[in-house]
Amino acid sequence: MREAGKPIAMLTAYDYPTARACEAHGVDITLVGDSLAQVCLGYDDTTRLTLDEMLHHIRAVARGSRTPLLVADMPFGTYHASTEDAIRNAVRIVREGGAEAVKLEGGLEIVDTVRRLTRIGIPVMAHVGLLPQRHVMLSGYRAQARDAAGALDVLQSALALEDAGAFAVVLEAIPHALGTHITRKLQRAVTIGIGAGAGTDGQVLVWDDMVGTWDGHQAKFVRRFADVRTEVERGVKGYVQAVRERTFPALSESYGMPKAEWERFEQ
Ligand code: KIV
Ligand code: NA
Repeated sequence: MREAGKPIAMLTAYDYPTARACEAHGVDITLVGDSLAQVCLGYDDTTRLTLDEMLHHIRAVARGSRTPLLVADMPFGTYHASTEDAIRNAVRIVREGGAEAVKLEGGLEIVDTVRRLTRIGIPVMAHVGLLPQRHVMLSGYRAQARDAAGALDVLQSALALEDAGAFAVVLEAIPHALGTHITRKLQRAVTIGIGAGAGTDGQVLVWDDMVGTWDGHQAKFVRRFADVRTEVERGVKGYVQAVRERTFPALSESYGMPKAEWERFEQ
């Protein structure tokens, strides 16, 4: 797709129906993101998410996904203790979860891990720029690399991760000029932007941001392509009201019984 100049559309999914929607409507890469922690499980941040919780959702997405490339985030703490630990956990994500590739946040400090994973046949998507798993160290979810030194750091990370074998690099919350520059500098790996401008090879958004069901903080880079929240409100309120008014269910939504049987029953 990169060679053909065709932008890559990546979207997160956390369960069977969202996986089916990605499949049916032309998404190229489905990501079981660890944003799962906040948007589906109600945690404050992604560091709370366990590998077992992640696997539960990857399996559901995998059951609904055939055509899109299926990538899953390695949760916080599952790839830093040692390379061996990272391999064991990545193997679980592929074997038990059914993911085709894993995504890891970080720069030069994870290059060796990325090299080992790709050498044993597990495709790796890297993730640089804003790293949500390190939001405390970063003093919050803010745009990264807005000075020359920071920009050079992100560029060098992306180049090193490509050299280590990463097939793609997510660029999160960096200046658009840097997103375009890194995309030009990478030879083989594709760039997938989220808040990295229009010059990347592809884009990714979180499902709940994109369809408008997330009511938490909305980042500058989020665009709501649908307003599902309003539809959900309409549906739930309408249902509750109909129950209260006894207009639901109607006779046509109820089961009948032959009159003769009913009379025998009443006796
Ligand atoms: O967890 C996630 O959803 C992500 C994407 C937004 C890139 O990492
Ligand atoms: Na993530």
